[in-house]
Amino acid sequence: MTAPLIDPFARAITYLRVSVTDRCDFRCVYCMSEHMQFLPKADLLTLEELDRLCSAFVEMGVEKLRITGGEPLVRRGIMTFFRAMSRHLASGALKELTLTTNGSQLAKHAAELADCGVRRVNVSLDTLDAAKFAEITRWGRLPQVLDGIAAARAAGLKVKINVVALKGVNEDELFSLTRWCADEGHDLTFIEVMPMGDLGEEDRLDQYWPLSDLRARLAERYTLTDLTDRTGGPARYVRLAETGQRIGFITPLTHNFCESCNRVRLTCTGELYMCLGQEDRADLRAPLRASPDDAPLRSAIRAAITRKPKGHDFDYSRQTVRGQMSRHMSHTGG
Ligand code: GTP
Ligand code: 5AD
Ligand code: SF4
Repeated sequence: MTAPLIDPFARAITYLRVSVTDRCDFRCVYCMSEHMQFLPKADLLTLEELDRLCSAFVEMGVEKLRITGGEPLVRRGIMTFFRAMSRHLASGALKELTLTTNGSQLAKHAAELADCGVRRVNVSLDTLDAAKFAEITRWGRLPQVLDGIAAARAAGLKVKINVVALKGVNEDELFSLTRWCADEGHDLTFIEVMPMGDLGEEDRLDQYWPLSDLRARLAERYTLTDLTDRTGGPARYVRLAETGQRIGFITPLTHNFCESCNRVRLTCTGELYMCLGQEDRADLRAPLRASPDDAPLRSAIRAAITRKPKGHDFDYSRQTVRGQMSRHMSHTGG
């Protein structure tokens, strides 16, 4: 073990999110344009390179590895990578290996994921209405995702459903989604929509449903108790007394959580983003390829961490979008 990664604001970096592909089999309206230009496959890090990079982070104190995309499970050979990463669980260096997925390929991979030591998956699912689901995801089909979720549970994986709160789109499903998750035994987390990608300003503001409002509506029907539970991510949790279920809120807009940020993001081309809501990034592919020895890579990682900013600048108050990022969410995997 080398010295842990500590940023300029004394935050320990123990969580690495890795986007293994920018591709996806869906085209969610808040995440991508319908005709996305994807990176040429030749620009991607190989699975061996991803392994070397992630392993360097684990050696430097990363305890939680979340695989994202795009859709991580559409990357060819991705199970080889999960299998390889499971050695860090076995050694005890890594406490959690997990993924965020749209669920479309879970039926195929759930059992093997569980076998690789994955215990929990986060599945993005904004609606239980098949027609609405097709509208939001453009290319997705709800039954396929529900099958994927069922397969995950059958394989013994815990499921957390991620719902992006969308005004006028899934507002009317607040209680049905909550009820469904309670009945199925899934955790549920609501997320405020962030200004990522070139969606028009008006559209973004039109979509925005503040979680302060969502929470107040939930409290009209249920008794909410704040919990101190942490899963190492940005969500803050409550318990609903009536159902016993746990609900998370991810509130980059209404309640900034950057002071407790413990994470950085690696893209599929080896760029390290020190913050989801800032443009600054560090190239790790060059030092990775420059030498088979990890020393230059480790120094590049340390140098990047010294540039981690205090937080994002997302802000929708005053009816304008501030802090907008030009890159799409699929670039950094959320
Ligand atoms: P767990 O707590 O382990 O369940 O996961 P998580 O909430 O860290 O991960 P998940 O992939 O489910 O992310 C949910 C949402 O949180 C995504 O929309 C992410 O973009 C958002 N998110 C995660 N980390 C950050 C962050 O540092 N800043 C902001 N603004 N959003 C984040
Ligand atoms: N704002 C908030 N969340 C988003 N996601 C994708 N795009 C956005 C956005 N603009 C979510 C997905 C997934 C997670 C990784 O990020 O729904 O659950
Ligand atoms: Fe694909 Fe996820 Fe983006 Fe939807 S939000 S297009 S499922 S990467």
